[in-house]
Amino acid sequence: MKRIGVLTSGGDSPGMNAAVRAVVRKAIYHDLEVYGIYYGFAGLISGEIEKLDRGSVGDIIHRGGTKLYTARCEEFKTLEGQKKGIEQLEKFGIEALIVIGGDGSFQGAQKLAEHGYPTIGVPGTIDNDIPGTDYTIGFDTALNTIIDAIDKIRDTATSHERTYVIEVMGRNAGDLALWSGLADGAETIMVPEVEDDMEDIISRLKRGHKRGKKHSIIVVAEGVGSGVDIGKEIQQKTELETRVTVLGHIQRGGSPTAQDRVLASRLGAKAVELLLAGEAGKMVGIEKNELVSHDINEILARKHILDNEMYELSKVLSI
Ligand code: F6P
Repeated sequence: MKRIGVLTSGGDSPGMNAAVRAVVRKAIYHDLEVYGIYYGFAGLISGEIEKLDRGSVGDIIHRGGTKLYTARCEEFKTLEGQKKGIEQLEKFGIEALIVIGGDGSFQGAQKLAEHGYPTIGVPGTIDNDIPGTDYTIGFDTALNTIIDAIDKIRDTATSHERTYVIEVMGRNAGDLALWSGLADGAETIMVPEVEDDMEDIISRLKRGHKRGKKHSIIVVAEGVGSGVDIGKEIQQKTELETRVTVLGHIQRGGSPTAQDRVLASRLGAKAVELLLAGEAGKMVGIEKNELVSHDINEILARKHILDNEMYELSKVLSI
């Protein structure tokens, strides 16, 4: 193998740049040529491909977003789109590909692997919803962004004695809500993996108010539903002044934390190692601080599981 490609795909996440840097530098260290594919699978189809050298990934380790840009690409879900992509890879003489992204991106990677094209996935998403890895690149940074926001909201919530509903991202997973809610001492954490009893939440809020609680913070994962609707219901049923903040895409930006930079560097380098060892159709991950790899097929067939022990702990600590 002489030449590999790398792309970032799906929603960007802080640390993707550090992962691209690691792939490029590790590959060059082992005398491989590396080509960057811009705009994810969309750029693969249209041939937006360029050779990268060690300098092209300088000064990006600390930057959010992705230097390679990203996209969500419907066309690559079709056989025709996949064939066009493979044609481009062949045209550029790219013998194997590293895909940095979330589960949508891994579906693309799996298709390439099915067509016999060596592909390795690197988990990059703020959602932390990929099985086979304890953490995904970007989760820690997003978490810290949320915590910073909730701390600020808490100040104003106390001053005004209000109830706050804060909607966080996570797609169908509750990790961002659970971890940020636990780290911020939220009174209630609503995640899609657990069905909540709204009446119970209402009566807890009322009881807290009677006890003299000055404010309440409720963290809602977007997968549960609209934070705005939940806020309206809470205000109506508790008669407590309630405000809603939807944190939105602020959670996807910003300079990656040290944790994410290190994780991205380790996973990016590991992906190159797997290709050098002749592996394909795999995803790299980290479990109990050990670098691991799993079949992409197996990862896509598995479901991400919320840490139930942590969820129960959050309930105990918010009595
Ligand atoms: O997967 C990352 C994520 O930020 C999810 O948390 C969110 O549901 C989605 O992407 C938003 O996607 P878009 O940026 O395309 O609106």
